[in-house]
Amino acid sequence: MDTPIPDAPPNAEQIEYWNGAVGLRWLAYNDWLDERTAAYGRAAFAAAAPQPGECVLDIGCGAGATTFELARAVGPDGAATGIDISAPLLGRARERAAALGLAVEFLEADASRPPFAPQRFDLLFSRFGVMFFDDPAAAFAELHKTLKPGGRIAFACWQDPQLNDWYERPLAAIAHILERAPVDTRQPGPFAFSDPDHIREVLAAAGFAQVELAPFATPFYLGRGASREAMADDAMEQVFRVGPIARLLEPQSEQVQAQARGAIRASLLELADDHGLEVGGAIWVVTARAG
Ligand SMILES: C[S@@+](CC[C@H](N)C(=O)[O-])C[C@H]1O[C@@H](n2cnc3c(N)ncnc32)[C@H](O)[C@@H]1O
Repeated sequence: MDTPIPDAPPNAEQIEYWNGAVGLRWLAYNDWLDERTAAYGRAAFAAAAPQPGECVLDIGCGAGATTFELARAVGPDGAATGIDISAPLLGRARERAAALGLAVEFLEADASRPPFAPQRFDLLFSRFGVMFFDDPAAAFAELHKTLKPGGRIAFACWQDPQLNDWYERPLAAIAHILERAPVDTRQPGPFAFSDPDHIREVLAAAGFAQVELAPFATPFYLGRGASREAMADDAMEQVFRVGPIARLLEPQSEQVQAQARGAIRASLLELADDHGLEVGGAIWVVTARAG
């Protein structure tokens, strides 16, 4: 008799993704990414308003930048925990915590199956770490159980791709090379929570109440450097190494990649000025209460 093949665990693809070459590339570009996403994290942090003495969880904490901010805010009487599926990023997070002398706990675990006692946290927080669940409603329902009565959640997620130049501009530049697939907001990925109705549905199904979405937009320097050429090179490194455009181009032939590189570079170069190569970015700052 054949042995039944066990079902893959939830989020198996993402676990492989964030522990493989992508996790290592995120690690290599972590300081760069931290700087570029800092303003979005601050917007979500302000909405979260962590208080001294609170117990907080940073979902999809990556290399820990926001977990450290949370730890500072809750102080010695509180506790900050980061959870992530990426061993390489958590390794960096632990090193940074030791260097900073911060008592922060980092757990390698799937946040859709949070390994915590019920009602442990006052606050669930995330900067771009909640858009990668196979089944978001189930994941948020499990996360909801970890909140104390009256506890809250606050997270940052990207708005519609059309509002995000860092994605839209390179993609438009290669429209003549690669057919554009519509963004599927029901699939895990950076834009999985771009549709406000979808966010509200998921959070309501998971048991959250008082769901609010506040738009926040600010540009950031995709490229920096001493010259416009250097800025474009810096931006190109990022576009081709991490994120959705890199993922789109990776399986393409060398010829297509070379064509795409030329087209994207030319388009980005137009944005470079004396200060840097600036692109627009727009997020939702989502807040809700344990229902
Ligand atoms: C876009 S990165 C953001 C990382 C970090 N929050 C930051 O702002 O630098 C997304 C993170 O979510 C993590 N992640 C994806 N799916 C996850 C899951 N099911 N449970 C926990 N972490 C997950 C990834 O490993 C990655 O570190």
